[in-house]
Amino acid sequence: MRDRLLAMAKRRGFIWPAFDIYGGLRGFYDYGPLGSELKRNIINLWRKYYVLGEGFAEIDSPNLSPEDVFRASGHLDKFKDLMTVCTSCGAAFRADKLVKTENADSLSADELWEEMKREGVKCPECGGELTKPEPFNLMFGTHIGPKGKGERAGYLRPETAQAMFMDFQYLYRYFREKLPFGAVQIGKGFRNEISPRQGLIRLREFNMAEAEIFFDPEEKDWPGFEKVSDENVRLIPNTGGELLMSIGEAVQKGIIRSRALSYFLGITKKFLLDAGIDEGKLRFREHLRDEMAHYADDCWDAEVLLSYGWVEVVGIADRTDYDLSRHMEYSGENLKALRKYPETREIEVTEVIPDYGKLGPLFKKDAKKVAEALISLGPDIAGDITVSADGKEYTVPESAYRVEKVKKKVSGEEFIPHVIEPSYGIDRILYAVLEHNYKEVIDDGETYRILSLPARIAPIKAGVFPLMAKEGMDKKAMEIYEMLRNEGINAFYDHSGSIGRRYARMDEIGTPFCITVDYQTLEDDTVTMRNREDKRQERIPVKEIAKKIADRIDGGIL
Ligand code: ATP
Ligand code: GLY
Repeated sequence: MRDRLLAMAKRRGFIWPAFDIYGGLRGFYDYGPLGSELKRNIINLWRKYYVLGEGFAEIDSPNLSPEDVFRASGHLDKFKDLMTVCTSCGAAFRADKLVKTENADSLSADELWEEMKREGVKCPECGGELTKPEPFNLMFGTHIGPKGKGERAGYLRPETAQAMFMDFQYLYRYFREKLPFGAVQIGKGFRNEISPRQGLIRLREFNMAEAEIFFDPEEKDWPGFEKVSDENVRLIPNTGGELLMSIGEAVQKGIIRSRALSYFLGITKKFLLDAGIDEGKLRFREHLRDEMAHYADDCWDAEVLLSYGWVEVVGIADRTDYDLSRHMEYSGENLKALRKYPETREIEVTEVIPDYGKLGPLFKKDAKKVAEALISLGPDIAGDITVSADGKEYTVPESAYRVEKVKKKVSGEEFIPHVIEPSYGIDRILYAVLEHNYKEVIDDGETYRILSLPARIAPIKAGVFPLMAKEGMDKKAMEIYEMLRNEGINAFYDHSGSIGRRYARMDEIGTPFCITVDYQTLEDDTVTMRNREDKRQERIPVKEIAKKIADRIDGGIL
């Protein structure tokens, strides 16, 4: 079935192998005209949930980042898979994908090596001996700027998330310093996957839609939780077993530890079903403690059942204050938020108070910088102190400052926000939607293919056909086709072959409606509108076509 689906997807212009005329390259695909439209519709549905639905702010940042970013984020040290190489043919593999044991990606290099030896794993390509697994960093590295002075090491981003952390101060101000708030980014992620052999499931350049939701960890409630609390979900907690229960119950029983995380699990379920994922093939699996990414304290994956087995399509991680703390440490910037007190409080603090009357004559134009550097050392100082500012050192005598207790009015306390991150892989979702909606029916000895895509994500919303390309029916059909496109509805005009064949061509690519212009149209300006799923036809006035389709696109699932 998968081969036939992929053949259809290639023939009809959904997915093409990239660089095909040069033999292609593993892990890279092109979306053809229908695939691009389908992808855009899935992304727009995602925006509907996260930007319009949640009120989150979308940003758009560079794909390429300087090395500092990934040193701080931990990706430089930790974003690695364990690689084994064949000593005969040189093929490389992700070692955890070669062993039969469950949750192999939580094993260390030594444990994996033992398991490989125990199972007698050989090279899947040539049967040769494999090397002991070694960590391999998945980031694509490059140089920014010409060789020489201004040159900097850089990497293509493996996730879009980092920009949201680096822009925290801007975002916090944008949201008028109120938590929780969310920022989202939809864009490319790049990973030098060791052995991508599963089509759109494992790409080296892929499309991500990520949200970073910043919140106060002391706030246990979650706004809008009741919107999802009754959603039933299939859960595989890391303590074992499989459970079917509502999100509300899962939180109440402590199966999902964070209410904030559980909210986005509910939103993820709703989005995936709206996009056309089959609910019977959807589950949420919690990561094992040692399977988790380096930044996460808890993580639930939305997994869908495909011909490849269960595949993660969304990861929902509790990133705690990890990223903001690391960026604070590495950049020296303050990435904290203010937890406001109900009323202003008076507190006593110990502070360094520079004596400007003495610093001025001593340090002249540098006095202000020196004072700032002195204050930043905090109150645990005594005696003559050496401070550095802009790469220069200054010795401040004991007589040029005091350390004193002072009373201050404060409106709140600073803290580092925590982050929940739903991270969606658009390509995997798109592929899963194709697999879950592709059907074959044998009709009169011929295979009839139907793609039951939800109307709102279908690339083409309506096929427009003249019964015959003559006597003005073709002209009228063309007018309707143009009218629909002017209304923003993607339509397709087709006058070749029998009506049955034309319906079949539209069913195969998931077009929900077909409009046929016949003799009666020329008399009373009505057409037939055929619905893909039940094949029923209704006769409607031409002037109602656009509204009928638009209602179905926005108003729910076909
Ligand atoms: P896997 O374990 O399958 O490699 P991952 O745990 O590394 O996946 P995440 O780091 O959680 O994946 O990435 C977030 C989302 O991005 C995933 O849920 C998935 O949908 C998508 N994704 C990750 N890697 C790829 C890839 N190589 N090709 C396509 N999509 C990907
Ligand atoms: N941003 C989530 C991930 O890359 O896994």
